[in-house]
Amino acid sequence: AATPRTVSGIQPTGNLHLGNYLGAIRNWVRMQDEMACLFFLADLHAITVYNDPAELAANIREMAATLVASGIDPQKAVLFRQAAVPAHAELCWLLNGTARIGWLNRMTQFKEKSGKNREGASIGLFTYPVLQAADVLLYRATHVPVGEDQKQHLELARDIATKFNTDYNVDLFVEPDPIIGGPAARVMSLRDGGAKMSKSDPSDMSRINLIDDADLIVQKIKKAKTDPEPLPSEVEGLEGRAEARNLVGIAAALTDRTPAQVLAEHGGKGFGQFKPILAELVVETVAPIAQRLVQLRTDPEELDHILAQGAARAREMAAPTLAGAYRALGL
Ligand code: ADP
Ligand code: NA
Repeated sequence: AATPRTVSGIQPTGNLHLGNYLGAIRNWVRMQDEMACLFFLADLHAITVYNDPAELAANIREMAATLVASGIDPQKAVLFRQAAVPAHAELCWLLNGTARIGWLNRMTQFKEKSGKNREGASIGLFTYPVLQAADVLLYRATHVPVGEDQKQHLELARDIATKFNTDYNVDLFVEPDPIIGGPAARVMSLRDGGAKMSKSDPSDMSRINLIDDADLIVQKIKKAKTDPEPLPSEVEGLEGRAEARNLVGIAAALTDRTPAQVLAEHGGKGFGQFKPILAELVVETVAPIAQRLVQLRTDPEELDHILAQGAARAREMAAPTLAGAYRALGL
């Protein structure tokens, strides 16, 4: 069997929050101890919609800093910018000959993202999943972490791999398996238990940013929307109480326990009692990240160095597969 290897990308955005950390970044930090990992800032994906160039450049650095501050270790994982490894774009083009319009037409994310203005969407937004296929096939990834919304794109990558291998009679691409991230923490807004915690929420009070200091975190948790009932002692008691469920879920994720275990300890407490406990847990996780982030922001050269080294390593790893693809095609 192939050595386990994973590839995962994240779009470079600014202002990361606790939802990004518990839902995505923390899993990467854990994976780097379990298998060979390549993590990239998906800047080529970012340009499928208009981004202010100066803002994008700043976001790329900020995201790199946030990942390192969160515990991605450039000695353990290959951390790089997608655009710094031209093989991603090259392989994407080669795979465009294999991917079918019908396959891409079925992608629900394109339908969602393009909305009613399908004709006005960029070609890049449409072929985005082919670039994603290139991202993972390039490194012969065996495992790819996917959220619910990305399952279909991984299926497409597998279909492209199979069709290419079959059409050109090669054993070049590996079909990656999904890593479905357990009961993935889905962190909800602190102001509305029905909405995801998100950077696009206009209210800063709705989220804990990874750069927030302890006082601000305490304040945000204190003001978090709740109901007047005390915490139940069993999860069934969270039924219909989205805000309470969310705070319990955050405490569970932060302490690596189940909500049931959190309730076994804290059931019966009112929010006046539970919120300070939760705030302390959040501060314990976020404060060290914020500290390192502030530090890394002062040293852009160190960040550029980390990314340059990662890109050099990624280019090396990508080269044989890309050469194999050209060869298979007769180019
Ligand atoms: P946002 O919703 O703030 O725009 P992104 O869409 O850029 O965040 O998501 C980046 C990563 O963080 C993705 O892997 C996504 O699944 C994860 N993520 C974002 N928001 C949350 C959340 N509220 N809870 C759990 N994971 C999240
Ligand atoms: Na988003």
